[in-house]
Amino acid sequence: MNLRAVKGMNDFLPADARQARRVEEAFRRTMERAGFGEVRTPIVEGTGLFVRTIGEGTDVVDKEMYTFLRHEESLTLRPEGTAGAARAYLEHKVHTTEPVTKWFYAGPMFRAERPQRGRYRQFHQVGAEIYGDLGPACDAELISLIVDFLADLRIADAVVHVNSLGGPEARLRYREALVAYLTPHAEKLTPESQRRLLTNPLRILDSKAKADQELIADAPRISDILDGDDAAHFQGLVKYLAALGVDVVHDPLLVRGLDYYGRTLFEVKAAKDILGAGATVVGGGRYDTMVSDLGGPATPAIGFAAGLERLVLALGDSNATDANLPVYICALGEAAIAPCLGLGRDLRRAGITCEVDARGLSLKGQLRRANARAARLALVIGEGELERGVVQIKDMSAHEHLDVPADSIIASVVERLAQRQS
Ligand code: HAM
Repeated sequence: MNLRAVKGMNDFLPADARQARRVEEAFRRTMERAGFGEVRTPIVEGTGLFVRTIGEGTDVVDKEMYTFLRHEESLTLRPEGTAGAARAYLEHKVHTTEPVTKWFYAGPMFRAERPQRGRYRQFHQVGAEIYGDLGPACDAELISLIVDFLADLRIADAVVHVNSLGGPEARLRYREALVAYLTPHAEKLTPESQRRLLTNPLRILDSKAKADQELIADAPRISDILDGDDAAHFQGLVKYLAALGVDVVHDPLLVRGLDYYGRTLFEVKAAKDILGAGATVVGGGRYDTMVSDLGGPATPAIGFAAGLERLVLALGDSNATDANLPVYICALGEAAIAPCLGLGRDLRRAGITCEVDARGLSLKGQLRRANARAARLALVIGEGELERGVVQIKDMSAHEHLDVPADSIIASVVERLAQRQS
């Protein structure tokens, strides 16, 4: 029997979970401050939702979904959060109660990709969606929130890439121009790109293969095709980003792996040495036709998602977590156990994090554990302390110790911890 975790799916032991929580809390702070509310949708949705929104011909739908039959219904573990959020928006008729809706979410997503560093089969995203605002000011503000979020995490040297795909018409014209340009050279493309030329030609721009890259270098640019409202929208985005002081790179070859995008597109790439070449930590864009494609009213929308595991990798050591424990309580002998348990409870009630050691070890053994936990103070109660009505406080880094009357121990610990912090 195989008792290992499923390939590409990871456990988060406490140190990893602490990092993940740090990222989620920073995200929550950023989004709530900007008026976003949290939405929680199911991890499982009907398969058709993803096929209709993400689109056939995309890697996600064609190759990566975890799909299964249950009660004759085809269900899929969500590969991303945008489709489920749009489904919930529509199902609860949110558009009838508010003209603009701002949601954020965090949770696990599933894609059967080839696992490697930063790419997993169960991974986590933090993401946000805005419904009911055509932009481009809204697009610029959303991108600036991402920049603030990364700054809050102290992830420096991340670069924002933006592009516009234009609306459905411009996208069609661009598709035609690209096919017209690539078809005469089709035999020089990789087999994968030759296949895409027929199914999803824009995705060829994303190819990392050298043969494809050489052809792509001279391919027509979507920016040459944008006109009218599409061009004005992109100019607006650039203007508002500049007004907000957000530095971006215009990447006219940026396309994304999901089919629902139109107009604004963006990705944030982390420093190369952290994740390997071109690792993308955030991806997003506008998808103004999704809600109506799902049967709802015409509703412009934009959003993004960030890969939590990739953000944690990008944090590197710069945000080494302070896993240390303020107080470690050592019980010496059976008679000290109950007073130590009570002391632990009282300290926690006073808001102080502490652990009680009631394993019956020698003081040396217990202090070894206090050191391993990087405790700032060890509180020791043994027979002698019980007789004298005191608790011994050991300052673990100053290597000092003193006895404090048991009835003033809480105040004394609070005071010492405050002193050490300042
Ligand atoms: P996406 O680009 O497919 O977009 O994913 C967003 C982010 O999720 C990626 O930039 C990456 O950090 C992370 N990610 C994706 N796949 C994996 C994986 N296999 N392992 C680890 N991390 C991964 C979306 O999902 C869209 N729903 C974003 C969006 C929201 N667009 C509009 N609204």
